[in-house]
Amino acid sequence: RHFQGEPGRLEGMHVLVTAGGTVERIDPVRYITNDSSGKMGYAIAEEAVRMGAKVTLVSGPSALPVPCGVEIVRIQSALDMREAVLSRLEASHLIVKAAAVADYRPAVVAEQKIKKKSDSLTLELIKNPDILQEIGTLKKHQFVVGFAAETEALDEHAMDKLSRKNCDLIVGNDVSQEGAGFSGDTNVVRIYDRNGLVEALPIQSKKDVARRLLELAADRMPAAAR
Ligand code: CTP
Ligand code: CA
Repeated sequence: RHFQGEPGRLEGMHVLVTAGGTVERIDPVRYITNDSSGKMGYAIAEEAVRMGAKVTLVSGPSALPVPCGVEIVRIQSALDMREAVLSRLEASHLIVKAAAVADYRPAVVAEQKIKKKSDSLTLELIKNPDILQEIGTLKKHQFVVGFAAETEALDEHAMDKLSRKNCDLIVGNDVSQEGAGFSGDTNVVRIYDRNGLVEALPIQSKKDVARRLLELAADRMPAAAR
């Protein structure tokens, strides 16, 4: 009924997007985070609104403007993000996990500022829950899109993540490539489904990547969800 890219393709859909990096506390004045800018996720949220969806954006700390019409849920840690996402799972038709979730967090968060004492300090880290993998296990009607940030063997690693995490689509990102990755306004991605490579997009704006990704998702979503 709709042409590709035409506003309205996601009419009536609830889209949940995660964006940015998470912040893992060490003590009251220190934390661990990563270089994620949130730009890819914010672009996806903006394009989903343009295509008619009701959009919730679960975001790590970011100074980016919240796109018009998007409900923003601000979080800090991976545990916060997990809670924010799982509590909205049931109501979501399409979930796009663009966030760079910290793989590990400090085993203990010091209540007071850690004092400088010995010549070395070892920080024990423990693994965070894999939110995307949990969604993949719990999902029923939801269409799930994951991301894979890699610096080598993109096809293999992306396909491995897609199957392990039970995603419907995965966006492979070679973050070592010129014009791709965390901080810029452009991206270079390869998009896969269960059967393998669907599309290799040349370098383009994150907005255009977002639009194409949402079109591919809309094409594949069951008619019942639309
Ligand atoms: N992800 C997640 N929860 C985590 C780690 C990752 O939901 N604790 C999601 C990311 O949002 C992304 C996908 O999993 O959509 C892949 O993240 P990535 O860091 O590329 O993969 P990992 O499984 O963490 O593996 P590694 O970092 O070792 O490559
Ligand atoms: Ca990771």
